[in-house]
Amino acid sequence: MFGSSIFITLICGLLSTANATHILVIAPPFLSHMIPSLELAKQLSSYCHVTYLTSINSISELERKEFISHLNSSKTLDIVGLVDGNNHLPGLMIEESQINSNNTAQIAFDDHQRILFNEVLVRMGQALHHLFQTDLQSSVRLPIDMIIARSFVPLSFLNTSIPIHLFLPSNLRGVVSYMRRQHTDKTGQFKEAYDYIRENIHQANGFLCNSLKEFDGEYVDEFYQSSGTLAPIRFIGPLVFDNKQATMTSQTRNIIDWLDKQSTGSVIYIAFGSIANLPANAIDSVACALKHHAFIWSLKTKSALPPSLHNLDSVHQLIVDWAPQRAILSHSSVAFFFSHGGWNSLLESMLYGKALLVWPFFADQFDNALQVVDMGVGRQVSYNLTDDIQHMLLNGSYAKRAKDVQQLAIDARENTSKKQILDIVRLISKNQQEHNEL
Ligand SMILES: *[C@@H]1O[C@H](CO)[C@@H](O)[C@H](O)[C@H]1NC(C)=O
Ligand SMILES: *[C@@H]1O[C@H](CO)[C@@H](O)[C@H](O)[C@H]1NC(C)=O
Ligand SMILES: *[C@@H]1O[C@H](CO)[C@@H](O)[C@H](O)[C@H]1NC(C)=O
Ligand SMILES: *[C@@H]1O[C@H](CO)[C@@H](O)[C@H](O)[C@H]1NC(C)=O
Ligand SMILES: *[C@@H]1O[C@H](CO)[C@@H](O)[C@H](O)[C@H]1NC(C)=O
Ligand SMILES: *[C@@H]1O[C@H](CO)[C@@H](O)[C@H](O)[C@H]1NC(C)=O
Repeated sequence: MFGSSIFITLICGLLSTANATHILVIAPPFLSHMIPSLELAKQLSSYCHVTYLTSINSISELERKEFISHLNSSKTLDIVGLVDGNNHLPGLMIEESQINSNNTAQIAFDDHQRILFNEVLVRMGQALHHLFQTDLQSSVRLPIDMIIARSFVPLSFLNTSIPIHLFLPSNLRGVVSYMRRQHTDKTGQFKEAYDYIRENIHQANGFLCNSLKEFDGEYVDEFYQSSGTLAPIRFIGPLVFDNKQATMTSQTRNIIDWLDKQSTGSVIYIAFGSIANLPANAIDSVACALKHHAFIWSLKTKSALPPSLHNLDSVHQLIVDWAPQRAILSHSSVAFFFSHGGWNSLLESMLYGKALLVWPFFADQFDNALQVVDMGVGRQVSYNLTDDIQHMLLNGSYAKRAKDVQQLAIDARENTSKKQILDIVRLISKNQQEHNEL
């Protein structure tokens, strides 16, 4: 499979000095993992050298979506493509029959999707193995002092003595609940990934969680109990991609102009994530519930829009096939965010102080929805979406609480999480120094 001797390709980066602390960040090729990992790599690169490694085909996706163009002049961040043969995974088509009348159904992944997912990890593991077996040091140019990787990246058979920290891009509540389910679930959903996680956990010297201690502190003990490790957990969230230098595209400009014309706190922003494609009946029930409200909906559908979306009030109702989410969430015209509950989306919403209505579909989204409810920043959908939307607009307590949480998130980002990230670098610089002194 690996006829070529080139396992990695340098995309951009101008790493200069040798003998500096150097961290290798490995991200599996899924957008929702690549983006927070890249933000982590970027923040770490303020204090040390960082190589960010992910499947080469996914780097073109990051480039297309403008996540890396501004990073190419960095002297301390290398973006490197792993030639592992991984291509983009197809999206998830949800069937009409998978939506129940209470809007609480968990969409199960079928065998085909599980096999595809597992193959991605196996290919990544093989390519990493080759890389570590061949001339790793010349390929990544600097000796590696620490590896930071997503928990299910196959690392154990690399047989490396380099310290490993596992990155948890979601909240700890979801991780704990996932581990609890795996203990009891004998059907083996994503068993292979869980095997990698179990092995990695025992090798890890620490965990980096993309959440706040204020949100997740109460799950730390349970995490230690269910994982059987005592390595430290650092809360480093919210890792929200931030590109201050980016120039606004005309598409974004148009959307902001449209929002500028709406009244304060009147517009509902709807986006259900990049993976799942909602079936017509679900789109239809959202559309009916939105009928008399102002909204902007990021909606990509494979089929035609249902009749309920044919006669929009173009002054107050807008459907777009791509949305500049952070720009929308930071706009004062937006009342709340109607989301699928992906953790990155929730963190963005909290950072910009917006309340949430969550319709979870799969994976950790159900735990995330519970988190939103417990924090008082929003609700999970009921069987009656019209009613949910009225509650969101009428009950001021969600928006008020969202502002408090926004303060926590900003403070964490500027202060506590930043210190934790600096601490990681200090930790390895110190080890390195002791090593040199010996
Ligand atoms: C960096 O990116 C900019 C903008 O995309 C591009 O013009 C420039 O050529 C790039 N430089 C390198 C060294 O890749
Ligand atoms: C929906 O909720 C009602 C009342 O809570 C319950 O009786 C019913 O079984 C639920 N239906 C489904 C499909 O979950
Ligand atoms: C792992 O590394 C150690 C130390 O370098 C070596 O002795 C051992 O044989 C290696 N194991 C495998 C399976 O490669
Ligand atoms: C849903 O909620 C709306 C608003 O509260 C109410 O008018 C409507 O009757 C409800 N529909 C059902 C089916 O309960
Ligand atoms: C508003 O929301 C809060 C928080 O969920 C809840 O405790 C309260 O009962 C709600 N008020 C009304 C009038 O529904
Ligand atoms: C960071 O912490 C300092 C000192 O505690 C505080 O004054 C400042 O407001 C904090 N920054 C943010 C953005 O919360």
